[in-house]
Amino acid sequence: MTDQPDVPEFPAQRGNAYRDTWCGEISPDRVGGEARLAGWVNRRRDHGGLVFIDLRDRTGLVQLVFDPDDSGTAFALGHKLRPEDVISVAGPVVERSAETVNPEIPTGAFEIRVAEADLLSDAQTPPFEIEGRGASEVGEETRLRYRYLDLRRENMREALQLRAAIVRAMRTQLDGDGFVEIETPVLTRSTPEGARDFLVPSRLQQGSFYALPQSPQLFKQLLMVAGFERYYQIARCFRDEDLRADRQPDFTQLDIEMSFVEVEDVIAANERLMAHVLGVAGIEVDLPIPRISHDDAIARFGTDRPDLRFGMELTDLTDALRETEFRVFRGTIDGGGIVKGMNAGKRDLARSELDGLIADAQELGAKGLVWAFREGDGWRSPTAKFLTEAELASLNGALGAEEGDLLLIVADEPKVANQVLGTMRTRLAERWGDIPEGANAFCWIVDWPLLEWSEDEGRWTPLHHPFTAFEGEIDESDPGAIRARAYDLVWNGSEIGGGSIRISDSAQQEQVLTLLGIDAEEAEARFGFLLEALRFGAPPHGGIAYGIDRICALAAGTESIRDVIAFPKTASGGDPLTGAPAPVDERQLRELGVTVRRPPAQQ
Ligand code: AMO
Ligand code: AMP
Repeated sequence: MTDQPDVPEFPAQRGNAYRDTWCGEISPDRVGGEARLAGWVNRRRDHGGLVFIDLRDRTGLVQLVFDPDDSGTAFALGHKLRPEDVISVAGPVVERSAETVNPEIPTGAFEIRVAEADLLSDAQTPPFEIEGRGASEVGEETRLRYRYLDLRRENMREALQLRAAIVRAMRTQLDGDGFVEIETPVLTRSTPEGARDFLVPSRLQQGSFYALPQSPQLFKQLLMVAGFERYYQIARCFRDEDLRADRQPDFTQLDIEMSFVEVEDVIAANERLMAHVLGVAGIEVDLPIPRISHDDAIARFGTDRPDLRFGMELTDLTDALRETEFRVFRGTIDGGGIVKGMNAGKRDLARSELDGLIADAQELGAKGLVWAFREGDGWRSPTAKFLTEAELASLNGALGAEEGDLLLIVADEPKVANQVLGTMRTRLAERWGDIPEGANAFCWIVDWPLLEWSEDEGRWTPLHHPFTAFEGEIDESDPGAIRARAYDLVWNGSEIGGGSIRISDSAQQEQVLTLLGIDAEEAEARFGFLLEALRFGAPPHGGIAYGIDRICALAAGTESIRDVIAFPKTASGGDPLTGAPAPVDERQLRELGVTVRRPPAQQ
């Protein structure tokens, strides 16, 4: 699967006092020879006069036999050993008799008859079992509190090795394509990507703060001004936002920028990159990756990150209901809303399950949900009586409904209707097992609006970031119509990357900042260095950044990015292992010129 062997070359091609080979390397050609091995006791079984131990190292397991006839001292130690003790052993490699072969492990046909054994370090009883692949029964808090034990588990080790292989493949491909790997600072100024900044107080300039980068966005643009032309970085990014399964406060991007490029160039280079990188993880990417415009994605799937592994597309039913007298639809349409529906296919659901769907829709923010089964030319549904025969026929037509198909309809303002049905679409596909095992579907989302109106902030905000280039001229009377030269890459309904062509003209950048409600003074204070750099000969440039954690989680087939991060944070942003974040002592605060106003509960 990876481009690195599971069994690495032994350091310096020779053994030492601890080992001269790996557990996973025990193979037919070793039989008759001696092996010296080191690792952890995975499991111990006492069989009367013999002790069997599965020894574990990074490469796998092998069985050890402690027999008093081979060595009394080794046997005495073998008898005492407990799971997770660290040992070094030596002895002849022999074939197991046919009936004792373990087909579950690659070394299952062999064993080591231990002639010498050393206990290097003994282990307390671990708080959970290490052995086995399955998700352990223990809570995540405990797994993270003892992460170094959790990482001993085979599936965790495999996930991190896969991650290393994926990152290596990124580097190999980009190095080969003439990209230069450059590091940018972690102590810096705010780079807006739509989240809150993490701040670090400066001791030398009290009252001033560094911000940890939400991305290397501005530095990579400066590197284009500097003439590097092709840059990449495996970059740590920091965003203080509410956490979910696919978000961490510190996470890793593959960050890329190129000069003298158009959207097509960036997409072409990145399709090659993704095909190579995911190929290493055994995932085939069919090129070219299909593209869907942002508006189509919303219209057909209710989301800008559609999962294309299954159907159940959404349909706008507003036109079919223009004349309706059904109070719910009438009111919504008159209020400027839409009626949107989904043909969920042939389903056999009890009334309680249908009620559950209504509750789901309401929990997602809808006022209600109409469900119906097509029956003859009409519907079996409590709502059927409110609609005319002609309306039912035209709804059936619009939804492509066949006899027995379940139809789900929401009337609301467009944003809510799309969001509710879009979320129900993926939830139901998962619940009903509609997603084919092992399927992968990729798409680019293109033709983004540059800006969206934020009700909360009462101003236009960027859908990407403020440095995104756009098509044509800015029409200030209709900022919502401006199209961004941006693209996101979506894999199985997850946004794994996003980027754009950038504004490379200082005056145009100022114009966009003004549109965002950032006045000249604030623009100068926050982004003056960028505006200035753009005046010194900035090439046209653009790029992308990928969420490496998300890519690895999808490649490893795990639900949460925490499973592909060695030391992740919990949902509340804490690290149960180190206890971060933690209070600091008064002296440190004094040096930083920081006073803490504690919340009343802690005073
Ligand atoms: P964006 O904000 O879309 O773009 O981030 C790029 C990718 O990073 C991943 N990502 C995250 N992964 C884990 N935890 C998080 N909190 C998190 N936030 C984002 C996502 C996302 O697609 N500077 C631009 C890129 C550019 O324009 O070149 C940027 O950061 O997979
Ligand atoms: P009501 O008379 O409000 O109980 O609504 C009649 C039916 O329409 C019920 O089945 C509701 O679940 C459904 N309904 C109400 N509001 C909406 C809406 N905005 N979209 C879709 N269905 C709705």
